Amino acid sequence: MDRFEKRAIALALSLLIMFFGLIVYAAKGLQTDLPTCLPNARLFDQGRIVQVGPNRYQVDVVAYMWGFNMGTINELRIPRGAVVDFYVTSRDVMHGYHIDKTVVNLMAVPGAVTYARYKFDRPGEYQIVCHEYCGLGHQNMAGKVIVE
Ligand code: CUA
Repeated sequence: MDRFEKRAIALALSLLIMFFGLIVYAAKGLQTDLPTCLPNARLFDQGRIVQVGPNRYQVDVVAYMWGFNMGTINELRIPRGAVVDFYVTSRDVMHGYHIDKTVVNLMAVPGAVTYARYKFDRPGEYQIVCHEYCGLGHQNMAGKVIVE
C-alpha cells in the first residue's frame, strides 16, 4: 500500500474517532438532546404550556395554516434559565418549527410528534419560523419565544 494511502486512511479513521468522541461529549458532557421523533407519543390537538417543575416547562405545539398554537398563539413567554421540552405536531400539512439561535429545529408532521429540549440561558426574543414550504401563507407563519 502506498504511504499516501496509509496516511489518508489513518486521517479518515482519526476523524471518525474524533467525531464519535464529540457526539459522546455533546450527549453526556453538554447534556444535549438530539431532536427526535417520538413514534409512540400520545397525539394532541391543543397547544398548551405546562410547568412541570421549578423552571421546567413542557410545551405542546400545534402547527397549522398559518401559525403555531402553544397555548397562546405564536408567542411563548418563559423566565430566564427555563428548560423547555417541546412536543410538536401539525393539524393539517407538514410544517417546520425552528427557533432561531437555538438547536430547536423540528418538523411538524400530522399524526406524529417530534421532540427537542432546550435551556434558555439568555434573555431576549427568539424568532420561531416555519422552515418547510406549506402553502400560500407560509411566509406569515412565525412566532417568538420571549425569555424574561
Ligand atoms: Cu408552515 Cu411553512
